[in-house]
Amino acid sequence: MLSRLPSLDKVRLDYKCVIPKQLAIPHVTKRSTITASVASDVADKFPNTSNAKAVDFAAADAFSGKALRVGAVLSGGPAPGGHNVLCGLYDGLKKLNSDSTLYGFLSGPSGLVDNQYKVVDQAMVDAHRNQGGFDMLGSGRTKIESADQFERVKKTVTELKLDGLVVIGGDDSNTNAAVMAEWFAAQGVKVNVVGVPKTIDGDLKDKDIEISFGFDTATKLYSELIGNVMRDARSGRKYYHFIRLMGRAASHVALECALATRPNIALIAEEAFEEKMTLGQIINHMADVVVARHKAGKNYGVIVFPEGLIEHIPRMHTLIDELNNTVLPKLDTPTPATVLKALGPDTAETFAMLPADVQGQLLLDRDSHGNIQISRIETEKLLISLLTAELDHRTEYKGKFDPVSHFFGYEGRAGLPSNFDCTYCLALGLTAASLINGGHNGCMAAVQGLTSPPEEWVPRGVPITGMINMEVRHGAAKPVIKKALVELGARPFGLFKEHRDSWEVEDGYVCVGPLQFEGPCSMNPPITLLAEQE
Ligand code: FBP
Repeated sequence: MLSRLPSLDKVRLDYKCVIPKQLAIPHVTKRSTITASVASDVADKFPNTSNAKAVDFAAADAFSGKALRVGAVLSGGPAPGGHNVLCGLYDGLKKLNSDSTLYGFLSGPSGLVDNQYKVVDQAMVDAHRNQGGFDMLGSGRTKIESADQFERVKKTVTELKLDGLVVIGGDDSNTNAAVMAEWFAAQGVKVNVVGVPKTIDGDLKDKDIEISFGFDTATKLYSELIGNVMRDARSGRKYYHFIRLMGRAASHVALECALATRPNIALIAEEAFEEKMTLGQIINHMADVVVARHKAGKNYGVIVFPEGLIEHIPRMHTLIDELNNTVLPKLDTPTPATVLKALGPDTAETFAMLPADVQGQLLLDRDSHGNIQISRIETEKLLISLLTAELDHRTEYKGKFDPVSHFFGYEGRAGLPSNFDCTYCLALGLTAASLINGGHNGCMAAVQGLTSPPEEWVPRGVPITGMINMEVRHGAAKPVIKKALVELGARPFGLFKEHRDSWEVEDGYVCVGPLQFEGPCSMNPPITLLAEQE
């Protein structure tokens, strides 16, 4: 009986993505005349790859290339569309030469270190077209940094006689790709490393990389949920919903969802940091809005904020910094009591003010890159407890404040990808295949012009070193790709700022509904991307 019902994931297997014209026709890659501008301290660290030029595509007579052996690795958190990158890579390699082989490393970068792989074949690819998740190969967050790991990667690459290695990941993974590209070049290992920009957080982008894949689907899925919660709030008229969204360092996800759904309050972490906002100021503003809404007969509301908010409030930022760099490395089994003793007087005061469960969450293990596991910190509970206390002090407020907390994170990372992400990812995979065929080491696959119809999208290769700067990480200067944060002077934030006050008391809620695969809304790009390109 169950098998008689059509199911959308199976239907989506047959969705045919439009292939951008330049990738659909036979083409060659050629280096542009422009060398990426690379800071001198970065160039010193990348003597073999920092003078790379961008790569353009030009029409050719026929698809042709030698039989290539290429490895691919999915790195970090899943993002919708990853399977289509693998499909595009496979299709592109086979079109160039049907004897090419694609090796998919298992469970992320550790598969590359341990030489654990699957040979990707037609059946695997066809079973994963337009499907969410990274489960075809699995993913992981292993950081390749020790000399031993590099030697083991070299062993894998040489044993499999790879011509190319495609790293599908975020800023840290693509930094790793650039470091590997340089190391292989220095060692005389002839493998071309190509990066692909992935992360739902949307913080891997610059003038050449317009957006990371997965952001579109994730924000559309979260916006659907937020819109539904808004309708529920306006129907029952009794709850305040506090919605934390993923987005660790940058608030692009929160900004996109705010523009799509128009909550009563949306907090942008970069603004809190720039304006040096205190938790007290944030809570005061929330309380003002709750009181004003009560006076207008509304004892309900929706408040949206990114998970990274907690790290961007200056006093919390200082506390987390001290915990990461000074206190936690010294304590074997940290407890709130031992940490409180070890902190300086100001940071101890901030720590003491936090609810006990948030204190505990701040002490959890760091990830493999040394980052705090921000998605484990229940900022919504912190905001609710402080706001409840503040409202208790507001004698003029006679309303009933009934808060409900939500975290929308993992729900958005592995859903069926939007048409935009399916099409973009297939194009990124095809671009990566052509870049490897052209022998371009240390490039990131780019597809540009994304607010135009997909036929017009333009594939390119962009030297990763051009995106790198030197940053102090755990006390030492390291070359890393600069995270793209929400720019307070740019159009997307400006658009939000123009409208947000009007959404505080007068509900502007938009119930966007489910992600569409057909019809007029089915190829809508993200609003923030449109605003940037307007
Ligand atoms: P990537 O940067 O690897 O794409 O992952 C981003 C993210 O989804 C964040 O939004 C979130 O904080 C984090 O991953 C959660 O990581 P984990 O999957 O390790 O819990």
